[in-house]
Amino acid sequence: MGDVNELILSKAGSNVDLIPEIAKHLISSGGKRLRPMLTLACSDMFGYDGKGHVTLAASVEFMHTATLLHDDVVDESDMRRGKLAARKLWGNQASVLVGDYLLGQAFKMMVDVGSLEALRILASASAVIAEGEVLQLGAAKNITTTESDYLRVIEAKTAALFAAAAEVGPVIAGQPEKMKQAARGYGMELGYAFQLVDDALDYGGSTADLGKDIGDD
Ligand code: IPE
Ligand code: IPE
Ligand code: MG
Repeated sequence: MGDVNELILSKAGSNVDLIPEIAKHLISSGGKRLRPMLTLACSDMFGYDGKGHVTLAASVEFMHTATLLHDDVVDESDMRRGKLAARKLWGNQASVLVGDYLLGQAFKMMVDVGSLEALRILASASAVIAEGEVLQLGAAKNITTTESDYLRVIEAKTAALFAAAAEVGPVIAGQPEKMKQAARGYGMELGYAFQLVDDALDYGGSTADLGKDIGDD
């Protein structure tokens, strides 16, 4: 994770000063780094012994960081990771654009690893996350929303990235389909559980513990 964090910081750079300023504000505010941890753990567990897992893990965290920048605009949130959200300091426009930059950097890093299959899995998760956030726009404050609508939203916006983060481990370790599906299934269930708890905390948690305001989501 030390290597992952170093790579994250180095790839957050740009000659356009505002980009590292905003990216580093969010990255240095912490975050649990759960998704990259999942990629490293699933690579190790399936016997991978190269360096590509570090790059994939950093790209997974970049995808996540981009979604946070975008999500705080969508949810009009003022706090993130215990600090003012980037959008409160630099505005919605800059937040969205720096999120786009981080997504671009994430895909460049995936290409560096050279696994077309890992690239396909993560690219597909990126599209699915956006679908989930758009789907959620129609479900928000809509009392006809069903439990299965809700599950569809959380699978897309959160579980899909956990699933992909886990699956790329056995993929780069050259494991057979059965192992990839097992890792993917584990990541997916963990992602569902994670979002369920995050949503419960959005009702009953505290800002001091969560580092973000409650009731925004
Ligand atoms: C926040 O994710 C977004 C959700 C999917 C609920 P995390 O709770 O993993 O955010 P950080 O990275 O630790 O701040
Ligand atoms: C976070 O969703 C964004 C994505 C999962 C894409 P939420 O809005 O539920 O999470 P927080 O509470 O703002 O972190
Ligand atoms: Mg939110």
